[in-house]
Amino acid sequence: MNKTIIVSNRLPLQISIEQDQLNVTPSVGGLATGMKSVHADGNGLWVGWTGITDEELDADLKKEVDAKVKDVKCKAVGLTQDDIDQFYLGFSNRTLWPLFHYFLEYTEFEDSQWEAYKRVNQKFAEVVLDTIEDGDTVWIHDYQLLLLPQLIKDVKPEVTIGFFLHIPFPSYEIFRTFPWREELLTGMLGADLIGFHTYDYERHFLSSVKRILRLDVNFNEITYHDRIVKVDSFPMGIDYNKFHDAALEHDNPNTEISELQKRIDTHLNEDGDKKLILSIDRLDYTKGIPNRIRAFEYFLNKHPEYKEKVRLVMLAVPSRSGVPQYQLLKKETDELVGRINGEFSTVSWTPIWYFYRSLPFENLIDLYTSSDIALITPVRDGMNLVAKEYVATRTKQDGVLILSEMAGAAKEMNEALLINPNSFEDFASALKKALTMPLEEQNNRMKILQKRLKRYDVEKWADEFFKTLEATNKLQDVVV
Ligand code: UDP
Ligand code: G6P
Repeated sequence: MNKTIIVSNRLPLQISIEQDQLNVTPSVGGLATGMKSVHADGNGLWVGWTGITDEELDADLKKEVDAKVKDVKCKAVGLTQDDIDQFYLGFSNRTLWPLFHYFLEYTEFEDSQWEAYKRVNQKFAEVVLDTIEDGDTVWIHDYQLLLLPQLIKDVKPEVTIGFFLHIPFPSYEIFRTFPWREELLTGMLGADLIGFHTYDYERHFLSSVKRILRLDVNFNEITYHDRIVKVDSFPMGIDYNKFHDAALEHDNPNTEISELQKRIDTHLNEDGDKKLILSIDRLDYTKGIPNRIRAFEYFLNKHPEYKEKVRLVMLAVPSRSGVPQYQLLKKETDELVGRINGEFSTVSWTPIWYFYRSLPFENLIDLYTSSDIALITPVRDGMNLVAKEYVATRTKQDGVLILSEMAGAAKEMNEALLINPNSFEDFASALKKALTMPLEEQNNRMKILQKRLKRYDVEKWADEFFKTLEATNKLQDVVV
């Protein structure tokens, strides 16, 4: 039976060694949480890194790791510590991530890291090529593997390859600064179909292809050698029913109440009027966390009547802590939270509850269902699934989503309160509006958002991608 091989840098499970034992945890981030549902349903294999370096594994442990990943239909790509330093913490997250998110000032262009990026993409290619059988389809994900489509196509031209980018594709003016721009684009063009979250990212990509590679682009089709490469946008959805059903279960009086929920309830009961404002992100500079905290301070100063009445619950999930910018961001965030809590706290009120950790799914549901407002304000974000998850859990169709215009998700979520995350005024007026929004208006907005998210869920997203990939394949027959 033909299979689909999903390839991403990180597998959906992460393995570490603790006291000589293997410890398995789920991966965090939109790619892993979204694709997990697709992978669970399908007949496929997921190829990627386990989170452990080759140096940490002796022969026995390696066997154990391979067996563990095989159990969940995955296959490991072995990476060395040097690969992690140069390819992951280096080129992927000090060059591509900041550049594609318009953080030019954070972007480093290092030859040695580029060499490592090429080398590691080749390692992924070897594992994939080793597993491909005739008729299989390969679906490659994200910015860590931009060269992989071509590396596979060169060896196996008959294999159908899809590529999806989970982050923004920047405008030509940004992309043109990248020293290896031709190689990167031709790497991607190894795919038969290239997908983006939004039409804007698609347009930016096509414009770079036209201007840098000078290829023929006809609407969204690129003629490349003797092939047609199709480019399209597919806004990624969530596993809507999983979140909605979990929230219904959470509301069920027979469901056991978690420790976190008990803590939240205690605080809410102390003063019935209190409102919770929630934010959840990886601790990443693209997520606009310091600005959000400062804007919250601005709001409390502008509307002092809300002191002791609102609380910002901020979950920041540790991420890429080996990259200096992330370490600086951690320090800045800790200091800001400390300063503002110091400035405003009273005997019975702390304005910001700050958690620096990842939480299991059940606790995410506790947070989503307990919060009156979700404040999701990245300065730049490919999509943002957290915004969608919040909406899916509002079983009573109350609650207000405040969302940054700079998140890909904003394109499909017009009924949220959309703000410019650089404007404190926008923050303050959206918060005020959300806190005073009549229930009927909350319901009306939520209903429309929910209907759309339910219809275009992650399964539908994957189906559409595959359908288009198949149709692109048929186009190739016509070309030949
Ligand atoms: N998430 C998680 N554990 C946590 C907090 C968040 O698994 O403790 C998940 C969250 O449910 C969401 C994903 O991480 O599915 C974040 O995806 P998003 O698209 O919002 O941002 P990304 O991290 O991909 O930039
Ligand atoms: C974003 C990226 C993913 C990445 C995830 C977590 O969602 O698009 O490719 O896996 O963040 O980041 P990490 O560096 O921990 O894999």
